[in-house]
Amino acid sequence: MNVALVGCGSIAERYAACIRAYDSLRLMGVTDTIPERSAALAAAFGVTQYGALDELLADDGVDVVVNLTVPEAHALVTAAALEAGKHVHSEKPIALRHDEALALVELARRTGRRLSSSPATLLGEAQQTAWKLVRDGAVGDVRVVYAEANWGRIESWHPSPQALYAVGPLVDVGVYPLTILTAMFGPVRRVVAVGATLEPERITLAGERFALTAPDFIVSVLELESVVARLTTTFWVRHGRQRGMEFHGADGRSLHLSSFQEFDASIELTSDAGETYTVVPLPREPFPGTDWARPLAELVEAIGEGRPHRASAEQAAHVVEVIEAIARSQAEGGAVEIRSGFEPPAPLDWAS
Ligand SMILES: NC(=O)c1ccc[n+]([C@@H]2O[C@H](COP(=O)([O-])OP(=O)(O)OC[C@H]3O[C@@H](n4cnc5c(N)ncnc54)[C@H](O)[C@@H]3O)[C@@H](O)[C@H]2O)c1
Repeated sequence: MNVALVGCGSIAERYAACIRAYDSLRLMGVTDTIPERSAALAAAFGVTQYGALDELLADDGVDVVVNLTVPEAHALVTAAALEAGKHVHSEKPIALRHDEALALVELARRTGRRLSSSPATLLGEAQQTAWKLVRDGAVGDVRVVYAEANWGRIESWHPSPQALYAVGPLVDVGVYPLTILTAMFGPVRRVVAVGATLEPERITLAGERFALTAPDFIVSVLELESVVARLTTTFWVRHGRQRGMEFHGADGRSLHLSSFQEFDASIELTSDAGETYTVVPLPREPFPGTDWARPLAELVEAIGEGRPHRASAEQAAHVVEVIEAIARSQAEGGAVEIRSGFEPPAPLDWAS
């Protein structure tokens, strides 16, 4: 299928490179509201530079739009693409508000187009393997999950961090473990959270000062049907030793997944005594890092096979409701109930 990118910022080049590696995907062109960015990416990959979103959407050759804009533009761009009859894969979060996310799910249903959303890192070799080990009872019934999204001070590497600070670490990186957690254990039912702003003023690489409007540190406790989880999200503490996800089972054993994002993350299991960690080899060669085009290839395959794609918009919308609930609990205090649900994704065939 023919793919076009909307948004040519920090992540776009990595998407374009990953897309190029798939026979089932062809990068047609790119656009950005800042034309210099789309011109540079189009030149680097030898594809069309569309002058504006409308021009891209008017190209009948484009089958799938990949939304790589800033979070606050996601819902508008995705809606426009669906209305134009394109399938869409959106970077996370699918929308900033739950009602917007639900409207996109409904729009995709009405237009008969597919809508998938990042994060889709559960498609990685390490993440699928960890999920299989948990399903196979490697640690017994999982009752507690710890998830650590310590992402450091992103202004130290991101050239335009303001848009990501505007939504904060809960929205920007909390979505990764939340998506894996809910795929594995089903919807979240209740949350309670506390947060803080640890460093309210930041400085970009270009020396520009900006003030934070969202907390840079939030810890939440989430109740799901069968597990309780603790999620840390911060744009202050670096990865350090506390990163990834840890699954704690009823028989006293634990499984540690070193990253929810990198497909070649390591998996360690504790011994029966629960003290010593042993590395579990992955059953297949992992992609080094994150293959950003994997959900796109999976989407295209699902369309061809007439089956649901795995990175569903319904699950992404549920995650947005969870994020809203955590933010409300953090701001107002007390627990917040969550109502929405979704059909969980199937494991990949090789890991089923
Ligand atoms: N940077 C990363 O490492 C990274 C990793 C994973 C996911 N993401 C996600 O990818 C998305 C983009 O992140 P980024 O870091 O590349 O941000 P960025 O700010 O570097 O790039 C976003 C680009 O979108 C363009 N844009 C904004 N509104 C637009 C619109 N309406 N139409 C067309 N272009 C528009 C901006 O001009 C900008 O060039 C975000 O959702 C982010 O969460 C980023």
